[in-house]
Amino acid sequence: MATDRNARIVPVALAELVADADGPVIVCSQAGEVNTGGIDRFDAIADVLDAAREGRPDGAIWLHVDGAVGLWALASPRLRPRFAGIERADSWSTDAHKGLNTPYDCGIAITAHPAAHRRAMTLRADYLVDGEEDRHPIDWNPEMSRRARATAVYATIRALGRSGIVEMVERNVDMALRYAEKLAPHDGVEILNEVELNQVLVRFRDRGGDAAAHTPAVLQAVQDSGVAYPTGTMWEGEPAIRISVSNWMTTEADVDATVAALLDAHRRLG
Ligand SMILES: Cc1ncc(COP(=O)(O)O)c(C=O)c1O
Repeated sequence: MATDRNARIVPVALAELVADADGPVIVCSQAGEVNTGGIDRFDAIADVLDAAREGRPDGAIWLHVDGAVGLWALASPRLRPRFAGIERADSWSTDAHKGLNTPYDCGIAITAHPAAHRRAMTLRADYLVDGEEDRHPIDWNPEMSRRARATAVYATIRALGRSGIVEMVERNVDMALRYAEKLAPHDGVEILNEVELNQVLVRFRDRGGDAAAHTPAVLQAVQDSGVAYPTGTMWEGEPAIRISVSNWMTTEADVDATVAALLDAHRRLG
């Protein structure tokens, strides 16, 4: 599907695609695309889908928001307007082990249709206690047995509180903006995304204009330096580096040291 500079769904393209679909439709939108941090325009997408629902059976179209990277930013009054219309989705998912900094395995599903979710997740057998009247995890999760992952999530939320979460999320976004501001003015450096969240997508070209070899060489040098560990990606057919500011400990000094390491490798190798 056509997407814009920040990998956001182009609503007109979605309308065309959905018009051609004759079976059930699940639209996976994003709150924080992995390369760009792009946040889909949920209001526009929901408008397209509301129109497409006419004449189709109930439940034939489902709008999901993959908020693995970005959903915690909803807590921030400053960032929240970027998510306008997200409440119109049928389901959201997010990871506490990304923006919230809990240990791994803390994925969270949130849905406007709990009965459908329960039907999909539950399983029953004679030897299992029937949990109709109470809320039993077995009815809501893909696994039967699991450790108490929610404890880590709950403890983190209790410890940080709303204000702590907001502070952490906003700081990570500010650090991403700092990366973009510090890198952008330099020759041969291209900031490829509009920084909406904690992601910066950057490409380095050598003096001859090549990025295909130069960007991976810069990436390797910075990874080897031990200063920071950005990762690589392909963006519109050419290599790029994705910087994800996710850790609660990342400071301005860390950003500046990483920028220096990137620019040093860029100059040395380019
Ligand atoms: C955008 C996005 N969606 C979904 C996932 C998968 O989440 P999990 O690792 O919790 O399975 C990831 C990465 O982990 C992601 O970056």
